[in-house]
Amino acid sequence: MLVLTYTTPLCISITPKACRAMALGGTHNSRAPQTQRLQIYPTPNNGVSPFWREKYEREAQRYWDVFYKRHKDKFFKDRHYLDKEWGDYFSGAGKKVILEVGCGAGNTIFPVIASNPDAFVYACDFSPRAIELVKTHEDFKESHVNAFVSDLTADDLCEEILPSSVDIVTMPNGYVLLRDYAFGDFAQERFSSKGQQISDNFYVRGDGTRAYYFSNEFLTNLFKENGFDVHKLDVCCKQVANRSKELVMNRRWIQAVFRVSDSSNSSSSKEA
Ligand SMILES: C[S@@+](CC[C@H](N)C(=O)[O-])C[C@H]1O[C@@H](n2cnc3c(N)ncnc32)[C@H](O)[C@@H]1O
Repeated sequence: MLVLTYTTPLCISITPKACRAMALGGTHNSRAPQTQRLQIYPTPNNGVSPFWREKYEREAQRYWDVFYKRHKDKFFKDRHYLDKEWGDYFSGAGKKVILEVGCGAGNTIFPVIASNPDAFVYACDFSPRAIELVKTHEDFKESHVNAFVSDLTADDLCEEILPSSVDIVTMPNGYVLLRDYAFGDFAQERFSSKGQQISDNFYVRGDGTRAYYFSNEFLTNLFKENGFDVHKLDVCCKQVANRSKELVMNRRWIQAVFRVSDSSNSSSSKEA
């Protein structure tokens, strides 16, 4: 499961990098004249203050590490449903090499390996405690899993993984499988009313970890702009009842499969 922590308030005529700097309350180019930029959706003024926004960004790794110190491997349930959803990608001829970005305590990788014993998984997370939980899991075998600490937004994955050696997630002719929260999820509506909004569709939980709620359009554009074609994209909806709180929650997840687009493939092979 790919988890994106990146956020961009929608801005006109500036790059995502600049949007990100603006979301954090900074400017992307200190030498540029300080002009007023047009932002389609302004940062909510009842949300998280610039000081805390910047702290959550700067210390994102620490907040997740404290999360795993507190919850160990007890928070997320094993994601056995993924085999039903994505089993076709994991199986098939030859040994599949998978990269899981943001693997946490291993609730995705161990069910995948149990159903696909021939698969090999590179698993990374920026929380050292999460990686320790993966390595001490009773099903961990070095012959099947290479788990390592890496920050997706800062580190070079090629230091751990040979380029073009992964079938699923990043490489040419490979797939990116993504499942994450979808726009309109029950939890998003609750965050909005509690002043926990950082920017559009981006929120902070009480423990400092953050969550982004993806719309179909945003996710599609994000991958298209980076040279991927959309292979599949669905929103999965489920009603979950909490009887003790007499609550019915409409949960929504976005589930998508992307592939490096043919045009990117051909231009990179020309360059090679
Ligand atoms: C919601 S948990 C999902 C864990 C796991 N994929 C699963 O299926 O249970 C999100 C994970 O992403 C990790 N994460 C968030 N931002 C990251 C980043 N920039 N680089 C690497 N890991 C990151 C967090 O530490 C956390 O373990």
